Amino acid sequence: MALYAIGDLHLSLGTDKSMEVFGGGWQNYVVRLQDAFAKLHEDDVTVLCGDLSWGMSLDESLEDLRFINALPGRKILVKGNHDYWWNTAAKMTRFFSEHGLDKLEILHNNCLWYGDTALCGTRGWFYELDGGAQNEKLLAREAGRLETSLQCAGTAKKLCFLHYPPLYQGYNCPQVLELLRRYGVSACCYGHLHGVSHRRAVEGSREGTAFSLVSADYLGFVPKKICD
Ligand SMILES: [Fe+2]
Ligand SMILES: [Fe+2]
Repeated sequence: MALYAIGDLHLSLGTDKSMEVFGGGWQNYVVRLQDAFAKLHEDDVTVLCGDLSWGMSLDESLEDLRFINALPGRKILVKGNHDYWWNTAAKMTRFFSEHGLDKLEILHNNCLWYGDTALCGTRGWFYELDGGAQNEKLLAREAGRLETSLQCAGTAKKLCFLHYPPLYQGYNCPQVLELLRRYGVSACCYGHLHGVSHRRAVEGSREGTAFSLVSADYLGFVPKKICD
């Protein structure tokens, strides 16, 4: 049994937005993902850090969700900024069960478990995305979701999974970083950064938390092992 993370699958099996138009880095990415996941086992767990499907609704995302469900092991889904299909937990859970998507779980205002280790997380936010009051409101909401998730974990060891990076070169999100520090989060995986933005990624330990970029194109479409 092992825990893996990967984000930004950007699937479009039921729509027409293949990432292959972005060139070599994304060539044949669906098959590459499938091949890499084929090495995992049914008792493995993978956290998917957002931007999973280009579908605009659950129905449009069904083929992508079926593809994800069919990969080996439990898959834990975190929302990304392009996941327009995302819905309330109740609606998603019902949709998953109606379509036999029995290996998908949602990480949103909750925490899930990998043995004794708590898997916490939320989408996160880029502080600089939209200035002003709206920005403050969205950031406060995401920080609140993350704190709810961390509180659900109690005193257990905590790992955190976000879509937006809480820090990268030239930028940081103090509210999220403060929560990671205060709750003693030992590792934090994030996605969202593609192409030339990979260069700005922060990897390695900062104030007790080990940061990893896990966007799929950065990982060569191979899930990153977080722990055994
Ligand atoms: Fe993305
Ligand atoms: Fe993104």
